[in-house]
Amino acid sequence: MHDSILLFGATGDLAQRYLFPSLLHLLRDRLLPENFRVVAIGRTQHDDDGFRAWLRERIDEGDGYSGALDDLLSRIRYHALNLNDTEAMAAALAPYADRPAVSYLSTPPNLFEPACRGLKAAGLLEPPSRLVLEKPIGHDLASAREINATLKEALDESRIFRIDHYLGKAPVQNLLPLRFGNTLLEAVWDNRCIESVDIVVAETAGVDGREGYYADYGALRDMVQNHMLQLLALVAMEPPAALDADSIRDEKRKVLRALRPMTAADAASDSIRGRYGPGVVEGRAAQGFKADSAVETFVGLRAWIDNWRWAGVPFRLATGKRLPSRTTEVLINFKPVTHWLFDRPNARGATPNRLRMRLQPEETIELGLMGSLAAPEWGATELMPMSLDMAMLPPKRRIAYERLMIDALKGDQTLFVRDDEVEAAWRWIDSISAAWQQAGTPVHEYPAGSWGPNGAEAFLPRTVGAPSGRR
Ligand code: BG6
Repeated sequence: MHDSILLFGATGDLAQRYLFPSLLHLLRDRLLPENFRVVAIGRTQHDDDGFRAWLRERIDEGDGYSGALDDLLSRIRYHALNLNDTEAMAAALAPYADRPAVSYLSTPPNLFEPACRGLKAAGLLEPPSRLVLEKPIGHDLASAREINATLKEALDESRIFRIDHYLGKAPVQNLLPLRFGNTLLEAVWDNRCIESVDIVVAETAGVDGREGYYADYGALRDMVQNHMLQLLALVAMEPPAALDADSIRDEKRKVLRALRPMTAADAASDSIRGRYGPGVVEGRAAQGFKADSAVETFVGLRAWIDNWRWAGVPFRLATGKRLPSRTTEVLINFKPVTHWLFDRPNARGATPNRLRMRLQPEETIELGLMGSLAAPEWGATELMPMSLDMAMLPPKRRIAYERLMIDALKGDQTLFVRDDEVEAAWRWIDSISAAWQQAGTPVHEYPAGSWGPNGAEAFLPRTVGAPSGRR
């Protein structure tokens, strides 16, 4: 396991909210190597002590712990660097090339290239050192290809770790065991038994301080290209021959490549875009998001995977900001039974089986079944929807980044996205942007705190937002 991490973007929001807290938890739980050290790199001027004091004010040690934060801070050195100044970077960072390191670029993608140049000059990309990159990897297929090509000039794909933090979430890691560890599920996991699949990522948060980025990216590029397509790929992939990183990533890539490109003719039926206006979210007044560009904060899509297993099964994807509740879930909607034998409810009223995997806010899995509480006073057999519920209670709820940082230090790429996956995802996303442009797909305003623009219902499951558990 490598024991040296260089964190670029150390004064940024992500580092404060997730990366340093993850390191703190890992240290606290003694999951990091003895000589673990952090080299923090940012633009703001600080000396080591100044940075430590700045960080101390922003990190919560957690109840019942003491000493862990001091321990973390004592392991941090800070450098204020301009990443475009290769010479200065090389001079400041060369001393850290004494040990294999993980360089973590939590920076905008336009800094990937200069950062690689400086790291290379400092000797920090020599094998077995590794590079971790935050999303977004580009803005479209062409820019993603450029970034991937630049990275490859600096180091081999086996040492490049592209983060999608959804893959660090425990319930996302449970998708493969659930599918491939259960005969019961895998036997019915195709278009003979499944009618449709819903993937929903609803947030109450707005674009909050990231207006510039969002005006450029919108929900399609910010959420669908990565998190939602990774969920889709894990739900739809074929069983891998083995559980190594490349076997899994090969199968995910095949799914992404089988996504049917959207055409302008399909844009109206297979997609919807919205942007939140003023409203009330969770009891609090919220302002609308204003941008000069036609950009969406809500997107609904009907995706089609053109392969043997999924022919004819719509995958509905919906994500939005400033929606009424924070809900992330995947629903597998099974077909109704072929012949309905019972009096009540009649075939149309019956609820077909449904598997609901909820990732947020709570982590639950619920299998909806039909059953009967036969009672003599009911003349006929009365069927009702019932559910088998499984609450996933991991020993400790962890930040997704904790797992990803450990894996990067160990060199396990399973939960990181490979270059060809990123490019396959962009290819599909580009087809949607082009279809929207050609068809002039409008961006409808929706009040903050509502479930998206008129027409969004067609892309959202009926039960979205309902608490998990029996209804
Ligand atoms: C990020 C997006 O990748 O994921 C944000 O850039 C979004 O816009 C966030 O809010 C959602 O992550 P989570 O873990 O809160 O669901």
